[in-house]
Amino acid sequence: MKSTFMELAKNRYSVRKFTGQKIEKEKLDQILEAGRIAPTAANLQPQHVYVLESEAALHKINELSRCIYGAQTVLLFTYDSRSDWKNALEPGIHSGEQDVSIVATHMMLEAWDLGIASCWVNVFPNTKTAEAFGLSKYEKPVLLMPIGYAAPDAHPSTMHTNRKPVEETVRAL
Ligand SMILES: Cc1cc2nc3c(=O)[nH]c(=O)nc-3n(C[C@H](O)[C@H](O)[C@H](O)COP(=O)(O)O)c2cc1C
Repeated sequence: MKSTFMELAKNRYSVRKFTGQKIEKEKLDQILEAGRIAPTAANLQPQHVYVLESEAALHKINELSRCIYGAQTVLLFTYDSRSDWKNALEPGIHSGEQDVSIVATHMMLEAWDLGIASCWVNVFPNTKTAEAFGLSKYEKPVLLMPIGYAAPDAHPSTMHTNRKPVEETVRAL
């Protein structure tokens, strides 16, 4: 039986050990589609998603981050800082990181629904990574996402179930 959204959201966890099996193109396309339809500020869609699968790209990203965990596909999410939404009411506030985060979350959850595991990764040098992949100076890397099939002995870390009670994070004003 198909799981509900709440079951999916509760079951998903950060996988930190992948098998060597590459994900099928149809599944990858579906995951990318889930990102494409994500909402962004003023619908400006400043995101870029780079699919790293070649030997050279995987070698490079493994040199840059210790959090690739054996994945054969790594997604690099960036936004173009020239084309994200700028808040005219609050100088300096702009939407690029939020836009990319929503796109990435859509993709992470769609992946899990397809039986594909992932991990959100911020431990990488943003500027050095942009340089290593020859991105323009306007493009800002936000996160990496290794994706693939979870190894048989992959398991949730203790952090997965350690969430604050809602009373601690939600306040009535
Ligand atoms: C913004 C962000 C950055 C993260 N960076 C990393 C990272 O660099 N390496 C890693 O292994 N996990 C990283 N994670 C995964 C978190 O540690 C994980 O989501 C959290 O502990 C909850 O566990 P769960 O995803 O298994 O439920 C990151 C998650 C988020 C949302």
